[in-house]
Amino acid sequence: MRNLSYIKIREEYINFFKSKNHREIPSASLIPEDDPSVLFVNAGMFPLVPFLKGEPHPLGKRLTNSQRCIRTGDIDMVGDATHCTAFEMLGNWSLNDYFKQEAIELTVEFLVKILQLDINRIYASVFKGEGGIPKDEESIKAWREIFSKYGIDAKVGPNQRIQEFGKENNWWGLESGGPCGPDSEIFYDTEKQPCSKGCNLNCECGKYVEIGNNVFMEYLLEDNIYKPLGRHNVDFGGGLVRYAMISQDVDSIYETDIYNPIFKEVKELSSIQNTESQRIVTDHILASCWIIMDGVKPSNTMQGYVLRKLIRRSMRHSMKLEMPTHALSQIATISIEQFKSAIPKLEKEKNNILNTLQEEEQKFNKTLHKGLKELDRLITKRESISGEEIFKLYETYGLPKELTEEILNEKNIGIRDEEGYHKAEKQHQKRSELSTKGIFKGGLADTSEMSIKYHTATHLLLASLRKILGEHIYQKGSNISPERLRLDFPNDNLLTDEEIQEVEDMVNRTIAKGLDISFKEVTKEEALKTVPFSPFEEKYGDTLKLYYVGDITDPFSVEICNGPHVSNTSVLGKFKIVKQESIGSGIKRIKAILQ
Ligand code: ALA
Repeated sequence: MRNLSYIKIREEYINFFKSKNHREIPSASLIPEDDPSVLFVNAGMFPLVPFLKGEPHPLGKRLTNSQRCIRTGDIDMVGDATHCTAFEMLGNWSLNDYFKQEAIELTVEFLVKILQLDINRIYASVFKGEGGIPKDEESIKAWREIFSKYGIDAKVGPNQRIQEFGKENNWWGLESGGPCGPDSEIFYDTEKQPCSKGCNLNCECGKYVEIGNNVFMEYLLEDNIYKPLGRHNVDFGGGLVRYAMISQDVDSIYETDIYNPIFKEVKELSSIQNTESQRIVTDHILASCWIIMDGVKPSNTMQGYVLRKLIRRSMRHSMKLEMPTHALSQIATISIEQFKSAIPKLEKEKNNILNTLQEEEQKFNKTLHKGLKELDRLITKRESISGEEIFKLYETYGLPKELTEEILNEKNIGIRDEEGYHKAEKQHQKRSELSTKGIFKGGLADTSEMSIKYHTATHLLLASLRKILGEHIYQKGSNISPERLRLDFPNDNLLTDEEIQEVEDMVNRTIAKGLDISFKEVTKEEALKTVPFSPFEEKYGDTLKLYYVGDITDPFSVEICNGPHVSNTSVLGKFKIVKQESIGSGIKRIKAILQ
């Protein structure tokens, strides 16, 4: 086995696939451009969806890259040897070009010839067939042939070199739909003793580390139905840092050449040594640097909320480790230094990253300390805590529910009632709505009155655009001031003068109809069923509000939204579009006013 640095492996991978006629594409931003179904790019294939569906790619049918990814789904696993929320995924793709046999051959050639991994330690999983989709016999055949070239008689079955699993492990695609198919994962045997719980390739004990996945995309998930895609694509992804871990023969990703200086600093800054917390701080700070670099600011919604949660979680663990204040900036500085040759944008955004982190740290330092103290006080000598108390900690001190729950779990303290939390949350929402309405009624605050009007007008605009231009329209971004509304949405072309007129007319007709506005609280699932094009999938909280304009059984518009809104469209006045522009990547922006 060669001992290669992280950067060297990155380079060798890309060069290897270039030598096999692949063209290199750049890493896309972590913030998905045209797809609201996930908050972050979580795999290299994500930006390639249109091409996997059949649109010709300008660089051809064979592509490769190293894509930065954020996987918040793995957040609870961070702290072990191999899981992280931020990582680079090495990828190669065949867009209706080579398929299973060649894909698996290429993967093995890279692992065995370039990285020089021991083939005897390589294992594979394949799709066993499920839900009317047959077993992946072709991949089994390909694997058996490849192993036999290396003198290994690969058997299929439990505890064998090739193991079969169902959809839970060997199927890949985005939950929101799109191209998907069976996959075949590659594992590396760490040669640890197998655990006693029926160890297999997917066991979490850590004996086998997943080092890559070939997805064979021949299906399309649409309206919950798998249809033939009419193409045979390959989507390979492999975690770069895991390759580094194996190549450098170290026990965790944190000891690889790229992480080690960061991790060493984390350890030096800790007065109390706790490996799990130290790994969490290392990972979360790196993830925060990447997310800020790609233009996100901490906030209470969407990507901003995830960023805030990552920063607060690292702050809490840094407190547990008794780190000095400003430790996080120091760790961020080294993270940028370490990763800047792989991701040069980090260096360019360095000031923004450090300032944003520092501001957020300062903002929450005081209140978080107070919240943690209050939590300590609450749980002294108690065995459980109520949902209402957890909500109060969030409302008053900004302690996210997940963080409180994590602390309680660590201390083996039960939560009395999940329901109590939601009840308190609802009461709080009601209170704030009532107070907004109170101000509104008294006409005391023109500012909020205008903003509320613009908020409702945004819903009317969005629904009109969807009716006139098509169902592909959704809210990509929105910004409201007392002077105007601004809406960003995907559309290939700018609107023609006629279309602008048509949209204005439709909004004004709806205003004139005097439609009532109402809302209904529903479960997240129900909300997403009603408004499928929703950017809220990863948003927290299980109850969402659906805001209706017009009769609930046949509304003019329905959106997932927190409000507040005016109660009848008749108060909005005259709607006018004042500006239209293209803001890149197929996104158009409209500014409009109410006269
Ligand atoms: N998209 C595939 C994965 O993330 C390669 O596993």
